[in-house]
Amino acid sequence: MASFSGRHSRHLLGLQGMTPDQIEPLLDLAESYALLNRSRKVPRDVLRGRTLINLFFEDSTRTRTSFELAGKRLGADVINMSVAQSSVNKGETLLDTAATLNAMQADLLVVRHSQSGAPALLAQKVEACVVNAGDGTHEHPTQALLDALTIRRHCGRFAGLTVAICGDVAHSRVARSDIHLLTTMGCKVRVVGPPTLVPNGFKSLGVEVFHTMEEGLRGADVVMMLRLQRERMSSGQIPSAREYFRFYGLDQRRLALANKDALVMHPGPMNRGVEIDSLVADSDQSVIQEQVEMGVAVRMAVLDRLTRGRHSA
Ligand code: NCD
Repeated sequence: MASFSGRHSRHLLGLQGMTPDQIEPLLDLAESYALLNRSRKVPRDVLRGRTLINLFFEDSTRTRTSFELAGKRLGADVINMSVAQSSVNKGETLLDTAATLNAMQADLLVVRHSQSGAPALLAQKVEACVVNAGDGTHEHPTQALLDALTIRRHCGRFAGLTVAICGDVAHSRVARSDIHLLTTMGCKVRVVGPPTLVPNGFKSLGVEVFHTMEEGLRGADVVMMLRLQRERMSSGQIPSAREYFRFYGLDQRRLALANKDALVMHPGPMNRGVEIDSLVADSDQSVIQEQVEMGVAVRMAVLDRLTRGRHSA
């Protein structure tokens, strides 16, 4: 599932199995794009003549916009295809879509899908480079890369950092990608939340499991909050939003248990007052807007790396 692994690898489907040697150079490239973005000096010929198709089978605002901006800043032609969810067999739909996209000769395909594994299936059937923009509860590699870049900018390292990923871990592809990446880079990762949303099985991924915020936040350098993903829940997994906030919401009092100046992160979209209090989300410790900024830079780096040395379609 890893990409950038073989010399000829052309997809980014997930981070599981990637090594620090593959991750660090990508973060370095993203950092250089972050600086170019700020100085408005991005070379527009990196993707000139390339076509990027955003293929989103699930709703998205920031991720789709972020990929669109990344492609356009590097000079690609970007097309957004919003594919309405259909009740027909997902496999057939995807394969039909793959045939259409091959005929259109896209160079880059950015895919979001509610089914885990859908981008990997498409990758087998298309000529284009495929980037997973979130598949089911499986992975969301560019989100984890932007999280890592944001952490590295503030902390200057990964080794020995304690990162607490809190909330609806069970349904979160963001959490899975972050766990793969951050444990690989030497962070100590904790997952924190109610047993219904943070099953003990996560221990097999090399993380510590906590069921109270008070224990899970103590001594953390980074506090990463996750959205309650009700659209993926069966009923009864949480009592009510109010109750949830009372036990698992991040407010100033709980944040004070983490290390002084701990970073506050959230992949967005945020449910203020459900998993995070506005006073914390908008505080000096919050790097949530910087995550969005780094998202564009990371996606530029990924698009650049995947297409480098490849002939355009
Ligand atoms: C995340 C996603 O779609 O997995 N959002 C994002 O990409 N910024 C997390 C979420 O939806 O809660």
